[in-house]
Amino acid sequence: MKIIDLEEKYNGLYFMCLEDWSDEMKEAGDHKELWYNKMKDKGLGVKIAVTDDDKVVGMIQYVPIEHSTAEGKNLYIIKCIWVHGYKEGVGNFQKKGIGKLLIKAAEDDVRSKGAKGLVAWGLSIPVFMRASWFKKQGYVKVDKLNMSVLLWKPFSDDAIAPKWIKQRKKPKKIPGNVSVTSFINGWCPAQNIVFERAKRAASEFGDIVVFTEVDTFNRETFLEWGIADALYIDEKQIRTGPPPSYEDIRKKIAKRVKKLN
Ligand SMILES: CC(C)(COP(=O)(O)OP(=O)(O)OC[C@H]1O[C@@H](n2cnc3c(N)ncnc32)[C@H](O)[C@@H]1OP(=O)(O)O)[C@@H](O)C(=O)NCCC(=O)NCCS
Repeated sequence: MKIIDLEEKYNGLYFMCLEDWSDEMKEAGDHKELWYNKMKDKGLGVKIAVTDDDKVVGMIQYVPIEHSTAEGKNLYIIKCIWVHGYKEGVGNFQKKGIGKLLIKAAEDDVRSKGAKGLVAWGLSIPVFMRASWFKKQGYVKVDKLNMSVLLWKPFSDDAIAPKWIKQRKKPKKIPGNVSVTSFINGWCPAQNIVFERAKRAASEFGDIVVFTEVDTFNRETFLEWGIADALYIDEKQIRTGPPPSYEDIRKKIAKRVKKLN
C-alpha cells in the first residue's frame, strides 16, 4: 500500500470517487473534471491510496480554505476523505488504517506548504462523513451549522480558528411558474448527480417550470447566497444527501405544477 499524489492515469477514477462500477456515477456529467481543471492550479491537493497490485482504494482532497464554504486564514480544508467501502469494484478497504495514512499525508503536505492548520468537516450523526472520526484523529470542534460540524487541527499557536459561512438568502417563488433552482460548485459527484437529475426532470414540464443553475464556483455568487450545493423547488429545499432519485425529483416538481392548475 502506498499513498501518492494523484497521477493522471487515475484521474478518471478520481472524478467518480473511485466508483467506476457505479451506474449512478455515470449521471454525474463532467462537472468534477471541470472543477479539477480549475482547482489544480489553486492549491488543490489530492492523495490516493494504491495497493501493491495497483488498485486505488482511498482518496483525500483538500483545498485552501478560501475556496470552501468556511472562512479562515492560512488554513487548508479537507473537502472529503473516502476509503472505498462497497463490496462492488475494488471492495471494502475501510478500517484497515488507510484513512489514517491519508489524513497524515494531507497534514504533512499542507504543513510543508506553510499552512497554520488543517480543517475538516463531518456530520454529528453517525452516517456519511462522521465528525467523530476526525475527533479520533486529533481534530477539535470549532463551529457547527445544523448537523455539519467544523473541526480543525492547528499547527501553530497563532492559528485563527475557522468558521462556517452561513446561508444569506434563498430562492424566491416565481408567480405562475414552478422554479427549480440548483446550486452547483462541481467538486462533489453526488451533488453533480442531483444537479443533472433536477435539470433533466425540470425540462420535462416545458415553460411552466423555470430551471435556474447557480454556479457557486464563482466566489462572489457563493458569497451572495451562502449556499454551495443545494436544490430548491420554489422556496423549499430538497434534501440531497444521499442524492434523491430522478423519479423522486420529478414527482416533487409534478406536485407543484399540479397545484398551479
Ligand atoms: C472515515 C474513513 C475515511 C476512515 O478510514 P478507514 O481507513 O476506514 O479508517 P482507519 O482504519 O484509518 O481508522 C482509524 C481509526 O479510526 C477508527 N474508526 C474507523 N471508522 C470509524 C468511525 N466511523 N467512527 C469513529 N472511529 C472510526 C478506527 O477504529 C481506527 O482507530 P485506532 O486509531 O484506534 O486504530 C472511512 O471509513 C470512510 O471513507 N468512511 C466513509 C466516509 C465518507 O462517507 N466519506 C465521504 C465521501 S464524500
